[in-house]
Amino acid sequence: MFGQVDGTGNPTGPDFDDTVWTEDGGTTLVVRRIRMNLDTWDQLTRSEQERAVGRKLSTGAPLTGTAEHDELDLEARDAGGRLVIAQNAHARLSHHSENDGRRIFRKGLNYVHDTGATRESGLLFLSHQADISGQFLPLLARLDAADALNEWTTTIGSAVFAVPPGFQPGTWLGQTLLG
Ligand code: HEM
Repeated sequence: MFGQVDGTGNPTGPDFDDTVWTEDGGTTLVVRRIRMNLDTWDQLTRSEQERAVGRKLSTGAPLTGTAEHDELDLEARDAGGRLVIAQNAHARLSHHSENDGRRIFRKGLNYVHDTGATRESGLLFLSHQADISGQFLPLLARLDAADALNEWTTTIGSAVFAVPPGFQPGTWLGQTLLG
């Protein structure tokens, strides 16, 4: 809804497996309904919007790079000595290098809820991780405290789920969790 490229920093390959699966092959899911204030977001200039995240709207490239998957240069400064990727930029604060290597796997769905009288837009934020307390919660606490995006976003619902692994004949769904 904010016009950004999404999913760039998601772990892939072995990093995906390490991030997502519990020892028994299950996972956990966090769902958050995040209202987004499009009216005030649209009042920003393009460069203010890009500064809030630390990435370009056109390609998703970091403000310190040219292609979507370029590594972020978190030390780079502009001619005036300002950090190019701001201290409170979402891409900096959520990056695994700033979070003791903690990662999550995100999926997002836009939603619009229009009652006729009111209209709400936002993101259904979905996050998979092996361990909610060890991975998701410390990351969330860090973003809660300082994320530039907080000015335009409000979380209005959240839920957590245990997702059990698949099962074989002779065993039952959820057995490793509840058996
Ligand atoms: C409306 C709310 C949000 C918006 C618009 C948003 C947007 C973005 C964007 C544009 C990126 C950069 C591209 C990418 O890597 O996907 C990003 C990265 C990321 N976001 Fe969010 N985000 C939101 C909420 C959250 C929340 C609630 C969390 C976790 C608690 C989170 C965690 C992350 C992580 C872990 C990354 C990747 C960091 C890395 O590169 O390692 N985001 N987000």
